[in-house]
Amino acid sequence: MFDTIIRGGRISTASDTFFCDVGITDGRIAALGADLGTAAEIIDASGKWVLPGGIDSHVHISQPSGEGIVMADDFESATRSAVIGGNTTVLPFCMQERDVPLREAVNAYHARADGECYTDVSFHLIICDPTPAVLGQELPALVRDGYTSFKVFMTYDGLALTDRQMLEVMAVARETRALVMVHAENYDIIRYLTDQLEAGGHTAPRFHATSRPVIAEREATYRAISLAELSDVPLMVVHVSNREAMDEIRRARRRGLKIFGETCPQYLVLTENDLDGLNMEGAKYVCSPPPRDAASQKACWEGIEQEIFSVFSSDHCPFRYDDPQGKLAPRGRTSFRWVPNGIPGVGARLPILFSEGVMKGRIDINRFVALTATNHAKTYGLYPRKGTIAVGADADIAIWDPDRRQKLTHAMLADGCDYTPYEGIEITGWPVTTLVRGKTMVRDGDLIGRKGHGTHLTRAISAYA
Ligand code: URP
Ligand code: ZN
Ligand code: ZN
Repeated sequence: MFDTIIRGGRISTASDTFFCDVGITDGRIAALGADLGTAAEIIDASGKWVLPGGIDSHVHISQPSGEGIVMADDFESATRSAVIGGNTTVLPFCMQERDVPLREAVNAYHARADGECYTDVSFHLIICDPTPAVLGQELPALVRDGYTSFKVFMTYDGLALTDRQMLEVMAVARETRALVMVHAENYDIIRYLTDQLEAGGHTAPRFHATSRPVIAEREATYRAISLAELSDVPLMVVHVSNREAMDEIRRARRRGLKIFGETCPQYLVLTENDLDGLNMEGAKYVCSPPPRDAASQKACWEGIEQEIFSVFSSDHCPFRYDDPQGKLAPRGRTSFRWVPNGIPGVGARLPILFSEGVMKGRIDINRFVALTATNHAKTYGLYPRKGTIAVGADADIAIWDPDRRQKLTHAMLADGCDYTPYEGIEITGWPVTTLVRGKTMVRDGDLIGRKGHGTHLTRAISAYA
């Protein structure tokens, strides 16, 4: 007798597709097979596709974002949107604050997240001030405690590290076997071009894209890879937007380096022309790196098909549009320089890749599962507890209706933002029912689970470290 049986569905993992029932007991998958008997809850999945719940390993939630700017999502609203969009785990960032011990910063994020989440969560760290105490004691201690990945930035005031600092952080990663994630854009190119554009009176949102050209991303990508090679550490290059940066990753992988790539929905379905909107509408699409052009979209699809990209994440970083604490902050109206960077996407990520990728025949369903769940779990130390459908794994499952067709609207996504940059996109396929550790959180599209079911996950060392 199981707690739950999912009956009659078509199951896909990163490697296989098969028809069988799923027996769930105590939050875990207890059996896969036929004629599993009875259960307290039977979920009829006939005609549906049963997939591992999505893992979104790149989301920003309740992160301080500068004077007077407030993120649109707290942990409740972000994980609500995540679970409605078929996710069962998200990995947000805990950003270091200057002159605050790292552990204290981590505890502050836990305080915001505890009791609020619909999905499971686990934090990456952002290291922006690698002091001797951080490098010598604080960071190694947190890696030992299961915070086994951290992000470094090569751009942004207050966040950018020098190459030397990157090397120092990578040395800690080497020692502790942590995984380094990098935001690769050349800080000085962006600062120089931003000053030039402003001096010429070019302050509209669309010049955000002009100020951050492909060359700035390509150069920083190459440099980050070089530093990782010197340090002998694996590296995840996040939010890759174009062919040239992707080719640097491809070359490094051919040379046998453990360099990994991530891309995001904005680089598949948006372009810099979206930044052109009337008045300030373009601010809705301001994110970094910016969306590029049709050729770059094609390149990113190639990277997905050819496994240059191993993970597909949202880079969910939500700011309300019509809000003085969001995209239309008083300073943001004076120049693109001050428009908060980031767009929402945690709820839209999976439907977009399912529809544009699987339903349009660009990738198969197994590749979809790898890109959206399994590879995230392997990369960030959650596998095989998370990211697959196997006996013993957590019963984190999304049941998809492959036939459901609709236009994506912001209202469907139930986040804390006031728009989606993906409004109106035709979507085929939808995650109608989602279970987190065996608990049905979304049933036939309705949120029925309670916040607080989601829990914090202590992670193991990355499979690649
Ligand atoms: O514009 C973006 N992507 N904002 C989020 C922060 C980051 O760099 O990932
Ligand atoms: Zn970034
Ligand atoms: Zn990000």
